[in-house]
Amino acid sequence: MALTGLGNDELKLIIFGGKGGVGKTSCAIATALALSENFETLLISTDPAHSVSDCLEQQIGFNVVKVSGAAKLSAIEVVADEALTIFKAAHHNALKKLLVTSSNFDKDDIDEMLTLSIPGIDEIMSFKTIIDFMEEGNYEKYVVDTAPTGHALRLISSPKMLDAWIKVAAKMRWKYRYMITSFAGSYVPDDVDTFLLNLKKTVKRIENILRDKTKCEFIPVCIPESMAISETNRLLSDLNSTGIVAQQIIVNNVMVSDDCAFCRNRKAGQSKYLEQINDNFQSLNRVEVPVFETEIRGLESLNRLKRGLFGSQQFN
Ligand SMILES: Nc1ncnc2c1ncn2[C@@H]1O[C@H](COP(=O)(O)OP(=O)(O)OP(=O)(O)O)[C@@H](O)[C@H]1O
Ligand SMILES: [Mg+2]
Repeated sequence: MALTGLGNDELKLIIFGGKGGVGKTSCAIATALALSENFETLLISTDPAHSVSDCLEQQIGFNVVKVSGAAKLSAIEVVADEALTIFKAAHHNALKKLLVTSSNFDKDDIDEMLTLSIPGIDEIMSFKTIIDFMEEGNYEKYVVDTAPTGHALRLISSPKMLDAWIKVAAKMRWKYRYMITSFAGSYVPDDVDTFLLNLKKTVKRIENILRDKTKCEFIPVCIPESMAISETNRLLSDLNSTGIVAQQIIVNNVMVSDDCAFCRNRKAGQSKYLEQINDNFQSLNRVEVPVFETEIRGLESLNRLKRGLFGSQQFN
């Protein structure tokens, strides 16, 4: 089988996830390459380890660059810290005013609060960066590479975390608003209210895209090994509980050759895990990719992986 449906015009966001080392980055890049034959495509790495540069053998970084050798493919490696610094700089006044008007903190407390790191903020900033790109709308497809399982789940649940933060902030504001109304008789919404409202709209937009399977698809990558299967099961059930249902799965590193004793042993060893994968993930379109003799680095081997994932499908 091959990956299907990714060329549908409505489908914009494709996220790859799975256990460490199973081939997420390689598959995300190979998919982005395939899609870029027909669509303006942006490959976004949210993995702090940023192996996209290594795998493509091209320097990427936290700026969109054209991938050389693929006419319609651009890429970026999101640096969450930098995204947060940009966000704080853009909204510094609103954030400060929120704390000044809604708490008894003095100036030093407030400055300290603004430099503190907030749990989950990296994933929130990564996802916000993705959504900002989608809203700019310069590309037709956005392919996301994630760090191992936990990170992908935190990324997916980041809108919830942001929403919880907004609720607390809104509650603090509500007290302030009540006070002003009591003293002045009326309340005129200010830039802090606009900031919170815009943030709330961002959360809604992220949630709408994530939950809409015509717009967003999550593709788990697995290998025929016991721990990878268990982790994929957990990943899929956690995804389900957030309302995201995977439709297809990549089973990477499958031994196909019978040429030597080592290959035959590996192949025999994998067979029970391949059966388990077929059993566990029956409802998904399963795409088996062979293990190649060499690691996947550079366009030539990525194109080979692309053919493994898409078969003879042509996007151009
Ligand atoms: N089908 C394959 N055949 C041979 N080597 C492969 C195959 N798929 C992936 N690899 C190699 O396995 C290693 C891990 O692949 P990759 O970096 O894509 O995995 P990952 O899931 O993104 O890892 P991480 O969790 O560290 O981000 C790389 O060296 C890659 O070249
Ligand atoms: Mg990776």
